[in-house]
Amino acid sequence: MEDLKCCIVSCEKPLDQSYWDNQYLSNTIGWDLGEVSPPIKSYVDTLKDKTIRVLIPGCGNTYEAEYLLEKGFTNVTVIDIAPTLVENLKIKFKDNPNINIVLGDFFEHQGEYDLIIEQTFFCALPPTLRQKYVWKMHQLLAKDGKITGLLFNRTFESGPPFGGSQEEYNLLFQKAFNFQKMEVCQNSATPRAESELFIELQKNNEVLVSLYPFEGITCSGCKNTVSEKYAAIEGVLNVSMSSNFAEVLIVSQNEIDLEILQKEIAYDDKYKITQKI
Ligand SMILES: C[S@@+](CC[C@H](N)C(=O)[O-])C[C@H]1O[C@@H](n2cnc3c(N)ncnc32)[C@H](O)[C@@H]1O
Repeated sequence: MEDLKCCIVSCEKPLDQSYWDNQYLSNTIGWDLGEVSPPIKSYVDTLKDKTIRVLIPGCGNTYEAEYLLEKGFTNVTVIDIAPTLVENLKIKFKDNPNINIVLGDFFEHQGEYDLIIEQTFFCALPPTLRQKYVWKMHQLLAKDGKITGLLFNRTFESGPPFGGSQEEYNLLFQKAFNFQKMEVCQNSATPRAESELFIELQKNNEVLVSLYPFEGITCSGCKNTVSEKYAAIEGVLNVSMSSNFAEVLIVSQNEIDLEILQKEIAYDDKYKITQKI
């Protein structure tokens, strides 16, 4: 049941464009720090190459982009789904040629980046999208590109924000990314002290990261059985199923034929896996 909770939360409160736009329209933006997040500021200060392609998804008021521009970075893209916010950002950064401001859904975004900054975006998404987040991040990063930023290391009664733990993130990101850092953050903004992990996850260039729609699973036990079967296929390095059992993320050394994945679950005709996204 615990696994299904995430779905119930997100179905009750669809976290779509109008939800987020209303947060900005009503100025209900409790997550907004009003300044660049201190750990991200410190990290940016270590970067020498100011020409790298940086993406900030779910950027909000994006003090992080402002800081990057102040430090001389020349290729910053920010994306957010909330039109009211994006309109304001376009005014705020008017005439600055070093920033590209995109109104849109991160999961539809196309591009190639050396660095993607994570700052309260992952925790704003329904947890059912976590596997899709890993898949999309891997897709958007250039060779050796990195996700750097912060993930909550605590739970919340209801979300957003949706929390998590180091153990969960290890299982989710492993093999698709090399963990250069995942540790309790020492310089978080005061309200988040001791409750965040600082992450630096480098894209594993040697693997394929695929996301498949899945149908028919209704409980954690069945999810575990299917995951174990997939994990045992030669070449498969990691398997992670979404908390509503609707998608399965497979990290592999080589292309795995859909027929092989279908054969593994043929013992139960309720199960269906279809062409990867
Ligand atoms: C919790 S807020 C964080 C904003 C900002 N990163 C900050 O720390 O102030 C989450 C942001 O993600 C945006 N968002 C939610 N879902 C999105 C999606 N699928 N694609 C792009 N932006 C999204 C929301 O509009 C909101 O601005």
